[in-house]
This record gives sequence, structure tokens and C-alpha cells, in this order.
Amino acid sequence: NCENMGGESFTEEQEALVVKSWNLMKKNAGEWGLKFFIKIFEIAPSAQKLFSFLKDSNVPLEQNPKLKPHAKSVFVMTCEAAVQLRKAGKVVIRDSSLKKIGAVHFKYGVVDEHFEVTKYALLETIKEAVGEMWSAEMKNAWSVAYDQLVAAIKTEMRP
Ligand code: HEM
Repeated sequence: NCENMGGESFTEEQEALVVKSWNLMKKNAGEWGLKFFIKIFEIAPSAQKLFSFLKDSNVPLEQNPKLKPHAKSVFVMTCEAAVQLRKAGKVVIRDSSLKKIGAVHFKYGVVDEHFEVTKYALLETIKEAVGEMWSAEMKNAWSVAYDQLVAAIKTEMRP
């Protein structure tokens, strides 16, 4: 199908699964964000070195005030990507912020493997957070939204 480049389109139901689960988590966004990034660093300890504020800090990871906001950005932007995918069939991020985000991740040396580990940890964290509500469909909806968001970021990952 030429209209959606052969891919399945993102449905209202998929959007609802993402929005519903994020709404449940966002009251405790800080805590889930912390769990999310601790999972990432357990799998890929070297990823910690990418973050300037972790590298140059003596406070323990859990107490670093800058870790939670980045974790929350990943959640919020993935949820927004789901909404955009349903509405527009693609991820729409304001050009200037997409360029900035792409450039920052390029500059700090984020590579494919980091995005993969992060995807795994994101899904595991949501699974833990939503409990009984978790389903294969919910996992798939978050996966598609995350993959599309990362694809958009990667188009701007250059100096
Ligand atoms: C910075 C979002 C994935 C590492 C940022 C910023 C945003 C963001 C909004 C701030 C950019 C600015 O300064 O204006 C996201 C989103 C992601 C993602 C939406 C996935 C969908 C990752 C991954 C890693 C990573 C997988 C590495 C494991 C970093 C680092 C910075 C950064 C190192 C710079 C932090 C610093 O100032 O030291 N990210 N990010 N990000 N991100 Fe991500």
C-alpha cells in the first residue's frame, strides 16, 4: 500500500493503550523513570558514562536530579509519538527540537545498541508498572511508537 509505505497504520486502539498506560504511570513518573534507567545501566553499565551529569557527579545515581527528567522525556515523547502516528501516520516533532535532540545524541555518542537496550528496559518498566493491564497489544503499541520516534531522531543524528 503506497499510502502508508507498506506498513500497518497505527490504530486508535494502539494509541489508547499507550496513553492509558502512561496516564497510570505518570503520577509516579520520577520513580518509574529511575527504575527504567537503572535497568538500562544494569544491562549496559558503560551507558552511564554518556551522561555528563552522571560522569562528573559524586552523588549516587538515584539521587541525581537530572536522571529523572531524561527518563520522563523518553516516556512522554514516546507517548506523543503514538498520538502523532495515529493522527498523522508519522512522528511529528517540531523541526528545531528534533534537530537539537538528534545533534545532542550524536554528540554524546549514543549508538544503535543504546537505543535497543533502552527499548527493552522501557517495555520491562511499563510491564512492571501496569501489572494486569499488560498485554501483547500494549507491548506492540509502545514498541512501534518507540521505533518510529527513534527513527525520527536518527535522521538528525549527525554533527
Ligand atoms: C539528552 C530525549 C534516548 C542519552 C536528551 C534530551 C532529550 C532526550 C529531550 C535533551 C536534549 C537537549 O539538551 O535539548 C531522548 C529520547 C530518547 C532518548 C526521546 C528515545 C526515544 C537516549 C538513549 C541514550 C540517551 C538511548 C543513551 C543510553 C542522552 C544523553 C543526553 C541526552 C547522554 C545528554 C545529557 C547530558 O546533558 O549529559 N535526550 N533520549 N538518550 N540523551 Fe536522550
